Amino acid sequence: MKKQWGGRFEGQLDPVFERFNQSLGFDRRLLEADVRGSVAWARELGAAGVLKAAEVERLVAGLEAIGRETAADPSRLDGSTAEDVHSFVESALYEKVGELAGRLHTGRSRNDQVATDLKLWARDAFGRVRSRVEDLVAALVTLADEHADAPLPGYTHLQRAQPITIGHHLLAYVEMLARDRGRLKDALARMDTCPLGAAALAGTAFGVDRPTLAERLGFKGGPAGNSLDAVASRDHACELVFCCTQIAIHLSRLAEDWIFFSTHEAGFLRFDDTVSTGSSLMPQKKNPDVMELVRGKAGRVIGDLQSLLVMLKGLPLAYNKDMQEDKEPLFDAFDTTLACLEVAAIAARGARFDRERCAAAAGEGYLNATDLADLLVSEGVPFRDAHERTGVAVRRALELGVELQDLPAATLAELFPELDGDLASLLSVEKVLSRRCVGGGTSPDRVRASVRAWKKRMAAWGM
Ligand code: ARG
Repeated sequence: MKKQWGGRFEGQLDPVFERFNQSLGFDRRLLEADVRGSVAWARELGAAGVLKAAEVERLVAGLEAIGRETAADPSRLDGSTAEDVHSFVESALYEKVGELAGRLHTGRSRNDQVATDLKLWARDAFGRVRSRVEDLVAALVTLADEHADAPLPGYTHLQRAQPITIGHHLLAYVEMLARDRGRLKDALARMDTCPLGAAALAGTAFGVDRPTLAERLGFKGGPAGNSLDAVASRDHACELVFCCTQIAIHLSRLAEDWIFFSTHEAGFLRFDDTVSTGSSLMPQKKNPDVMELVRGKAGRVIGDLQSLLVMLKGLPLAYNKDMQEDKEPLFDAFDTTLACLEVAAIAARGARFDRERCAAAAGEGYLNATDLADLLVSEGVPFRDAHERTGVAVRRALELGVELQDLPAATLAELFPELDGDLASLLSVEKVLSRRCVGGGTSPDRVRASVRAWKKRMAAWGM
């Protein structure tokens, strides 16, 4: 294939370097964006009087045909020797409209072209990630609604700490994911300026109207303000990959919690067969592979962010070919995160909590010790003393192998002379939960109110 830049060269490329240099294998994903960008560019060249109206129409028709044909049959790109997607589209355009194709690149560079393509692609792609986040939020809110009042042991240091509700635990992840959604939205808004017209680095010398060009391509922030920045910056890609990283990290923590919940030892949660696998050797096994993969894939996404940041570090202005390496990490972070969100939502929809086991576990192991100390506090005991005395009671209870409320009456009377109420009822899981009715707390009423608030927010998201 004829090179776009062959004029000053006498020799041919070494085939090994030619393959090394070729990015079509991955930047072919930008084809649709490349066509859109080129159509807008052709129209602006027409408006600027560089191309005649009839020429613009022929170019646009040719570009649109290339878009349609490659969408219908992507194998058209297989085996092409084009250097990158931009060269591919241009050579396909030669086949459609002949020599006129050579006029399209007037005043444009692959540098502003690729920067524009990447943003156009990312806008759609990460809009999809956002809606997958919303879908997972919806699945978790439904589960939280169902289990708003169901007790579950809450942990710190992976030691049983205080009872919480299943709904509360689920809504913690909803908070995280909603922030991820907001972060994506912010990143997309910040990215929304149009590089086209920056040309190679200094700005195009043809009188195209950049605000109109930006508008044609749907960039709400107008044209990028500095041509060097427009072609040389990829902080938007870094931000989007960071958004993916943060999502992946949140999902990995959810995965870890649920993997633990699904162990025989905990027995709080069962995954549906549709997302579980067995062992090739041990017939009894049912493994939570879905969540293990979600947890594992976070590593890749973190690696993608690392690759991008390290590639950009210390690059001089403006464009450098290093930047061709921006695409694979961006695409991989997108693919991986989208897939993780998708399967996490499926796993969430099929997850079955064993409410009885969760409640039983929340009721044993002194998760109500804080509440016993708090009862002493309400009798006027300073908290430090209450803590100390409750600790002594825990030690006694451990020796006897009973819960605090089941200590012998004589022991209770000796340890806590100021308490005369029915301890079994005062320290019941239900009571312990209902005392946490502070805003953001775990009481069933609060969780139900939070579920209502989330449903409202989701409605405002258009769900
Ligand atoms: N394939 C290139 C990339 O992705 C397109 C830009 C090439 N520009 C250049 N001056 N060689 O970065």
